[in-house]
Amino acid sequence: MGNKATVVGAGNVGATCANVLATKETASEVVLLDIKEGFAEGKILDIFQTATLLDFDTNLLGVTNDYSKTAGSDVVVITSGVPRKPGMTREELIGVNAGIVKTVVENILKYSPDAIIIMISNPMDTMTYLASKISGLPKNKIFGMGGALDSSRFKCYLSKALDANSNEIEGMVIGGHGDTTMIPLVSKATYKGIPVSEFADEATLKKVVADTMVGGATLTSLLGTSAWYAPGAAAAYVVEAILKDQKKVVPSCVALEGEYGQKDICIGIPAVIGKNGVEKILEIKLTEEEKALFAKSADAVRKTNDVLKEINLL
Ligand code: APR
Repeated sequence: MGNKATVVGAGNVGATCANVLATKETASEVVLLDIKEGFAEGKILDIFQTATLLDFDTNLLGVTNDYSKTAGSDVVVITSGVPRKPGMTREELIGVNAGIVKTVVENILKYSPDAIIIMISNPMDTMTYLASKISGLPKNKIFGMGGALDSSRFKCYLSKALDANSNEIEGMVIGGHGDTTMIPLVSKATYKGIPVSEFADEATLKKVVADTMVGGATLTSLLGTSAWYAPGAAAAYVVEAILKDQKKVVPSCVALEGEYGQKDICIGIPAVIGKNGVEKILEIKLTEEEKALFAKSADAVRKTNDVLKEINLL
């Protein structure tokens, strides 16, 4: 039996995610959908033209806003949104993206009521909270991708600091998916299973944490727009964990019901990802400092969520 993945939003992140899914043959069928006429069709045609060069054979389809073609998707990745324009307030941006997310989620569920939905659109923690509320889906079936990306950036900076192979580094980032809300867990980071503190001094590790937290902003200033290779690959990584039932531990933005002392919020925590989406939340022991940072992060995410109520979207 084949499986089907849909990616909504054929921009930088969405098209990269579709490209990774296609080239790795993670799904047997990949549908890319965008509202901009011909855009998803163009991106898919371009990806398809690499099939004989890269030797893959995934069924690919690009569509302009035709949700009927997404029917029966097992997994749906939502990247649609607009970037902040000059003069636009944060509330206005949240309002615009929330409106888009609401319409997209409703349309997706009309044709794929059993799909597992992964939110990427920013502000991701708040968009996941909104999507979770309006869809009424159980917490395992709708969650946000931020931790996979932030953790990958954390491991990248750790490997540079330790001059080590990045695949031999383990590390997790929890909390909100924002420059000031994410929490790279240094206490849990290891090199070949050995705490990183045995290989680097405190100042070096502090710098790794600071670099990780501004990881996205660093790229935005270098590129002039937000990054896409790592965000797109991180989304595809989560899709693969679901479709291949990998039961990987991936820090993910999940609706909490008392875990980590929080409820009525979607925020990053370590989760086991398999065929049912979020199959388990791992409640790991945090240091007192990490606990305080997590509570602060949750307060900040909640403040952004409150904007949804102020603009009558919830
Ligand atoms: N339905 C479908 N697609 C839409 C809709 C909609 N209602 N509204 C906008 N889009 C599409 C746009 O046409 C565009 O192609 O979403 C795409 C967004 O792509 P980019 O502007 O290139 O943004 P990208 O860099 O891919 O980031 C997407 O992920 O990481 C987050 O902050 C980022 O929220 C942003 C999202």
